[in-house]
Amino acid sequence: MELIFASHNENKVKEIRSVLPDSIQLLSLNDIGFHQEIEETGSTLEENSKIKAETIYKETGKNVFADDSGLFVEALNGDPGVFSSRYAGTGNSEDNIKKLLNELNSKEIRKAYFQSVFCIIIDGEIHYVSGEVHGEIINEPRGNQGFGYDPIFVADGHEKTFGELDPAQKNQISHRFKAVQKLINFIGNL
Ligand code: IMP
Repeated sequence: MELIFASHNENKVKEIRSVLPDSIQLLSLNDIGFHQEIEETGSTLEENSKIKAETIYKETGKNVFADDSGLFVEALNGDPGVFSSRYAGTGNSEDNIKKLLNELNSKEIRKAYFQSVFCIIIDGEIHYVSGEVHGEIINEPRGNQGFGYDPIFVADGHEKTFGELDPAQKNQISHRFKAVQKLINFIGNL
């Protein structure tokens, strides 16, 4: 079956395409010639993923899914959460990390998790799957692989930050990978 991934991020498209079975042909927004930005105006990952998937479903009438992810820090009541990419207001990861470490400065509890939510629209029906990876925020950034908050996140049972793991290792335990596995199961069971 053909499935559109409502994302402009070609790296994510490539990563997800590489793990999908041959029976699913993944099309990116570039592949379908959709070049507009879709504004993420929701206040949850579910809402944002739904906004993106519905926009493309209304445009094409085809099966589609969209993702939205964020980092949820326990001592900050779940911040930065849905605002992860814009936490410091600049859209820059180093600024986001600095702000997060500042906010956490006096806090002892360092627990946090990444979550990725996929909104899937198949034959006009909306479904959600999600993946999480739990871990801790460390005091100083380490490693320069990955993106976003990777240099300050250590997954439970690991010593290296996501910024120190090589991408293949990170992908095996990441929130996005877990959500992709659920997407594959979901589609396989249709
Ligand atoms: P997106 O919805 O996957 O684009 O993620 C939104 C924001 O959450 C990113 O800009 C990052 O700040 C953060 N984030 C999501 N996934 C990850 C990850 O795997 N590592 C580090 N940061 C992430």
